[in-house]
Amino acid sequence: MTAGKLRLGVNIDHVATVRNARGGTVPDPVRAALVAQEAGADGITAHLREDRRHIVDADIDGLMAALKLPLNFEMAATQEMQQIALRHKPHAVCIVPEKREERTTEGGLEVAGQDNTLAHYIAPFQASGARVSLFIAAEKKQVEAAARIGAPVIELHAGAYADAWAEERWDVRDSELSRITEMTAYAHELGLEVHVGHGLTYDSVGPIAALPQVAELNIGHFIIGEAIFRGLGPAIAEMRRLMDEARA
Ligand code: PXP
Repeated sequence: MTAGKLRLGVNIDHVATVRNARGGTVPDPVRAALVAQEAGADGITAHLREDRRHIVDADIDGLMAALKLPLNFEMAATQEMQQIALRHKPHAVCIVPEKREERTTEGGLEVAGQDNTLAHYIAPFQASGARVSLFIAAEKKQVEAAARIGAPVIELHAGAYADAWAEERWDVRDSELSRITEMTAYAHELGLEVHVGHGLTYDSVGPIAALPQVAELNIGHFIIGEAIFRGLGPAIAEMRRLMDEARA
């Protein structure tokens, strides 16, 4: 059973990283989102971190005002972020674990074991009509916990799979791909919509895009890096082409 067209969510956080390196206003992540919209992205993803190291509050204002595409608002499960998200009412919220000292989102959310807290946390989003997704490791207990608390969507963390590609550790790559494949099928059986993200590149995207139950990929860092060489529109178009080729 297939989930239809595989959607591409373009994460524009690292346009803001480059801007913030100089503290000014360029390059503008909202402009990048508009280019992504033209280039065939199905959604825009932005992570407002507690420390505002890349996306800042004004970017979320700008994205909500300018975008026609759905915004997937990535956020830690804090009171501050809940208030911001409920005020903006983005199409989707993706709850991620966040540590100040990490360079990027290192692991998945620990859903198993904090069912009540998380169920309570996501309830206002469900009530407001936002699509709630939980960013988790491809582990059975996390998938089951996500289903138990009524989250409609999970995003599986592809970081270890993507790292294995970069390090050319093919045995790890294959075992990580198997884990993602199994948990995608299992989550789909449980009625969850499955997304995958983190660290995906032109090399590593194909086997994930080929999984028929995956509905959406969220990809940022590699695309923004590649945009330096080919331009943002062409970098996105090539990712889209590789996803479509793998899905076909
Ligand atoms: N999905 C989630 C939940 C993430 O936290 C991130 C990184 O912010 C991504 C996707 C995109 O990862 P990358 O920038 O490595 O492509």
